[in-house]
Amino acid sequence: MRMVDIIEKKRDGLTLSAEEIEFVIHGYVKGTIPDYQISAWLMAIYFVGMTDEESAALTKSMLYSGDVIDLSPIKGLKVDKHSTGGVGDKTTLILGPLVASAGAKLAKLSGRGLGHTGGTLDKLESIDGCHINLSEQAFIDQVNKINIAVAGQTAELVPADKLLYALRDVTGSVPSIPLIASSIMSKKLAAGADVICLDVKIGDGAFMKTIDDARILSRLMVNIGKSFGKIVIAFVTDMNQPLGLAVGNRLEVKEAIDTLSGHGPHDLETLCVEIGSHMIYNAKQAKTLEEAKTIAYDNLHNGKALAKFYEFITAQGGHIDDLEHFIKAKEIVEFKSKKTGYIKVIKALNIGLASMKLGGGRETKDDIIDPMVGIVLAKKIGNHVNSGETLARIYADKPISADIFDSLTEAFDIVDYPITTPPIILEIIR
Ligand code: URA
Repeated sequence: MRMVDIIEKKRDGLTLSAEEIEFVIHGYVKGTIPDYQISAWLMAIYFVGMTDEESAALTKSMLYSGDVIDLSPIKGLKVDKHSTGGVGDKTTLILGPLVASAGAKLAKLSGRGLGHTGGTLDKLESIDGCHINLSEQAFIDQVNKINIAVAGQTAELVPADKLLYALRDVTGSVPSIPLIASSIMSKKLAAGADVICLDVKIGDGAFMKTIDDARILSRLMVNIGKSFGKIVIAFVTDMNQPLGLAVGNRLEVKEAIDTLSGHGPHDLETLCVEIGSHMIYNAKQAKTLEEAKTIAYDNLHNGKALAKFYEFITAQGGHIDDLEHFIKAKEIVEFKSKKTGYIKVIKALNIGLASMKLGGGRETKDDIIDPMVGIVLAKKIGNHVNSGETLARIYADKPISADIFDSLTEAFDIVDYPITTPPIILEIIR
């Protein structure tokens, strides 16, 4: 086989065989096919697309380019979740203990945040003592013992994705649905769970900008997962404003604790109950979805999910001794509205970037984050606000630069007619 023939075939709109795709991925990881040919191939995929069969073959070649985690020593069905990335997205911190408290096994490998989106590992590490460096054996033992473990990646999972993503990032081929689907699904499949819930976000702060694209991506990922014998459910959810109120690592942990205590923001609780009920039901911890939903809601309100959260944090070395004084930013500044009206938009991207500039996120991979800082919204879309009333609180450890205020000013669109609150879950695809 010659790489140039495969590039030309894709360029001309033809379908590649699984063998041809394997030849490309294997050759790239081994270093026998150069970046410039892979770049041309990726761009051809960007323009021409891939059939579902090609996308599944690409996922398979990527999946087996490295280690695959064997979760079979964990008894019962293992559940996992993935979010395509959002602002204020602390769902793993809630969903994990929630489903674990209902008997489902959550064995999750998580990542760090980059740019305007946060990562679960950073949120966990904002808790004193909490670590995410579990060996594979410790990870498995912890799930067997308390139903939940979250770790950073130790094994060499999907090296093909690391190489391809770095190249896509600098050649304009990130926003290709088959490439995104195979990238996400190869990593999820390598992590070994039986049931995978995907939170596909759409809106200003997300990868997918339209419901049509989110639907196509979701359907493709669900079909890829099914072709590997997995149960995959995709939730298309709104990211036209941050999820919940808090953005910033420790601030989000506090909001997760509030939600696990039964008084979290409505959108966040709704999302966790909905996704959680599908996880509980598919892990066979309830006979019907309705029963699973009741369990999920009840466990957020009866202390069971909260108790599981503390058990999980303790197992990973963490401790929260004084919740009253858990938030320790040096300064809290009120960001006030200059207008009276109804909130139409809260651009998640702007809020995420403002939090990043405060030190709560990474501009580049090697930046060190400040776990204490961030933004807490005082209003959500649909709320009424008076001029002079607080829209958000800024938690800062250093003087707040003008561009942070500019970013916040731009984030809020306030109009003089009532706005209905948008639903958090737009569609469920399975
Ligand atoms: N997230 C991923 O893991 N891969 C992509 O290609 C896009 C989003």
